[in-house]
Amino acid sequence: MKVIFSGIQPSGTLTLGNYVGALRQFVQLQDDHECYFCIVDEHAITVPQDRLKLRNNIRSLAALYLAVGIDPEKSTLFIQSEVPAHAELGWMMQSISYMGELERMTQFKDKAEGKAAVSSALFTYPTLMAADILLYNTDIVPVGDDQKQHLELTRDLAQRFNNRFNDIFTIPEAHIPKVGARIMSLQEPTKKMSKSDENVRGFISMLDDPKTIEKKIKSAVTDSEGVVKYDKENKPGIANLLTIYSSCTGESIDTLEEKYAGKGYGDFKQDVAHAVINLLEPIQNKYYELLESPELDNILDNGMEKASLKANRTMQKAKKAMGLGRVRK
Ligand code: TYM
Repeated sequence: MKVIFSGIQPSGTLTLGNYVGALRQFVQLQDDHECYFCIVDEHAITVPQDRLKLRNNIRSLAALYLAVGIDPEKSTLFIQSEVPAHAELGWMMQSISYMGELERMTQFKDKAEGKAAVSSALFTYPTLMAADILLYNTDIVPVGDDQKQHLELTRDLAQRFNNRFNDIFTIPEAHIPKVGARIMSLQEPTKKMSKSDENVRGFISMLDDPKTIEKKIKSAVTDSEGVVKYDKENKPGIANLLTIYSSCTGESIDTLEEKYAGKGYGDFKQDVAHAVINLLEPIQNKYYELLESPELDNILDNGMEKASLKANRTMQKAKKAMGLGRVRK
C-alpha cells in the first residue's frame, strides 16, 4: 500500500482554500493508502505565535481534520511536536541543504518581504517539511499548488542524502488537485486565499456562519462584463467563484457556465454562497461536537504512538547512514 503524508499549519482557522486544495484530497485518499496526517505546530512557530492561541489552534485543527471525515481507524492523525524525530531529522536535512536553494523558495521570499525581523527557522522551514515527509517513506504528498516548490526541494534533498550516504529515503511525489489547487482571495483574485490575510473579507473560514459566508461572497470582486465564464486571465474573480462552486458541488465548470448563461452575477453569487454553506454546515456541526470531547485526545495519543514507531525506525537508519552516535562494542 502506498504511503501518504501531509500536514497543515495550526496558524489560524482553516480557509475554504485549505479544504479544497488539501483536506478534501486527504479524505478521498485514506481508503486505499497508508495515511499520516499531521498538525505541523513546529512550522507555525517560524513566525511569532501567541502561546494560548496556538494551543487552541492545534486542538481546533485536530477537530477539523476529523470533522471533514479523516477516520482514525484508517489514518494516523498526530501533532508534529509530539514526535521529536521531525525536528531531529529536520536538523540533519539542514546540514545537507544549501543556502542558495533555500533562498530561491518563493514562500520564504513572500513571507519575509517587508518584515524587520525574520526568524532563521522561517528560512530553513522547507528542510523541516522535507523531514516530515521523508520520515514515513512517503510515496505521495497531497497538497495545494503553493507547496509544489517545497516538494521539489524535498525530492532533491532525499536524492542527495541517498547518493551521499545510503539509499534510505523514498522519493515522494506531489499530488495536486486538477480543480481548486489554488483558491484565490475573494477581494484580490490574483492572490492566493490565505488564513493570514489581514482583510477577512478575502477568505472564507471553514467556521464562518452562513450569514458571513453570504456577505463575503456577495462582496467578492468580479468584473463589469456580467457573463459567467471561466477566464482566469481576464475574469479572475468569476473564474475563482466558478472553481469554488465546482469544488463544493462536484458540478463541472462547463456545466456551471451553461447553467448561468444569460443570467447575472447576483443569482450566481447567491448560489455559490449556498453551495459553500451546504458544504460547510455539516462539517461545522461535527466540529463543535468533537472539540470538547476526550475522544479527540485518545485519537491524538494513538496517532502519536503510531507515528513515532514509524518515524523512529527511519531516524535510526538515517543516523547510522550519516555516522551519528556510536556503535556499541
Ligand atoms: P498550509 O498550512 O499553508 O496549508 C495547508 C494545505 O492547504 C493548501 N492551501 C491551499 N490550497 C488551495 N488554495 C489555497 N488558497 C490554499 N491555501 C493553502 C496548501 O497547499 C497545503 O496543502 N508547508 C505546509 C505545511 C506542511 C506540509 C508538510 C505539507 C508542513 N510539512 C509536509 C505537506 C507535507 C503549509 O504551510 O501548508
